[in-house]
Amino acid sequence: MIAVEQQRDQWASKIGLILAMAGNAVGLGNFVRFPTQVAQNGGGAFMVPYFIALFFLGIPVMWIEWVAGRYGGKYGHGTLGPTYYLMARESVKPRSALWWGVISGMLAFSLTVLLNSYYLHLIGWSAAYSWFSLTGAYFGTNTGDFFTHYLSNYGEIFLFWGITVILLAIAVGQGVSKGIERWVKVMMPLLYIFAILMVGYIFVLGSPIDPNWSTIDGFRFIWSPNWSYLSAHLWSVMLAATGQIFFTLSLGMGIIQNYASYLGPKDDVALSGLATVSLNEFAEVVLGGSIAIPLATAYAPKIVPPDVLAKGKSAALAWIGHKFGLGFSYTSLPNAFVSMGDAGRIFGFLWFILLWFAGFTSAIAMYNYLVALLEEDLNIKRKVGTWVVFVIYLIMGLPVIYISGYMDQLDSWVSFQLTLLALFDILVAVYLFKPDNFWRELHEGAWMTVPGWYKPIILYIAPILLALPLIGTFKSFVSGKIGIAPWTAIIVMFIIGAIESYYAIKRKYGEELEKNEVIVKV
Ligand code: PHE
Repeated sequence: MIAVEQQRDQWASKIGLILAMAGNAVGLGNFVRFPTQVAQNGGGAFMVPYFIALFFLGIPVMWIEWVAGRYGGKYGHGTLGPTYYLMARESVKPRSALWWGVISGMLAFSLTVLLNSYYLHLIGWSAAYSWFSLTGAYFGTNTGDFFTHYLSNYGEIFLFWGITVILLAIAVGQGVSKGIERWVKVMMPLLYIFAILMVGYIFVLGSPIDPNWSTIDGFRFIWSPNWSYLSAHLWSVMLAATGQIFFTLSLGMGIIQNYASYLGPKDDVALSGLATVSLNEFAEVVLGGSIAIPLATAYAPKIVPPDVLAKGKSAALAWIGHKFGLGFSYTSLPNAFVSMGDAGRIFGFLWFILLWFAGFTSAIAMYNYLVALLEEDLNIKRKVGTWVVFVIYLIMGLPVIYISGYMDQLDSWVSFQLTLLALFDILVAVYLFKPDNFWRELHEGAWMTVPGWYKPIILYIAPILLALPLIGTFKSFVSGKIGIAPWTAIIVMFIIGAIESYYAIKRKYGEELEKNEVIVKV
């Protein structure tokens, strides 16, 4: 038996762990991406496949990632390469298991670098816009032009991006229990409070500028199932809904596993995993769904051209969703804040600082994945690793600023890769690890019993549901929408990620690989 890493950091409290996991999942996805997707995909039509994907895919994969993470943690690993090597080893010889580890580790490494490289910029925008709201900078301007102008003002971009990433580095540098846990314990409650305040205001807002356009119409758009739209666009709405579930729950990336690796070996995963999903969904469909869309509906006459307005509410919201995409919240909502007068400054500030908290507590998880990788796989001290990662994000963030279209192209690839890694979750952490082992681990120390009928869902339904969007999204790549710069970034990150994972596994389990037999067991 080989001695496993000495003392690994662990979450100091249950509440800290749950808030950290909720912070990981609750992000710009809940408040920015979700309303955008709803608007683009027929409102109530989107919600049907959304809930199906949540129950049959989101919850199972969340449990799988918690189980995998805690398992890796027992061996001192918080990264996917070594963890998935160990799990695959239950069915195949170490030398074959090595490849499962290398590929999973490669996918996770490239995602935590690439997704965060532009995610950090979105958070930076939120920081800037909370400042612009307080100072009233976009009041009295055309908010679309203001946004475009902001994007070409590199000084401001770097300033707000820089403040954000330096604060992240400080938090991550302090460690898991002394850094991340403490920061999220402040930010997450504030986030929920701000969101509830905004939703409360929206509920009493009614029709602020035109009696025909009220916030209630926005709620109606989301909550009345639109079967005809759904049947006409079944495939694309399903893809969008599945992709949103992965994105919002932070699945298919390695960061849920990373956080779960800081659990004790007998800490509950079943109920805690479900709590993470619940807190995230509350923040998404209840809070996230009650801000941007109702507000945009009530202020649509100011945002949408008259000929589109004449076509009705759904058409107006679809127009906003397509026109602004992810910029929805940065360009169309400020119109609403401006119309509120001075109160709009406070309201706008609340909205953007809320986005900043949401983004920050998700970005911190991706940041920590890379620091853990340097720390555990390559023996680099956390303090040093933190600044190495800072430099990596600085460099990888440059094309986001200077190459137009880079971010959106990368984002479309990223959604595909999240789904791909989720498939590896099921293949490695359930099938190769062996379904019985998985089920036993899920219930080890568990505070709830997962009903038996969830087993066939995890084993059969989830992988089938997963394959559909994989095939569907893959088709869109063949059509060649991604430019040379994003491809270069993706391929280089694949190469580095694969080499790193290979080295990490070899270094720790070299003897096993040599003999091609399992030796290390805890
Ligand atoms: N889940 C977070 C959000 O909703 C961010 C995230 C997305 C993190 C995808 C990892 C993977 O914004």
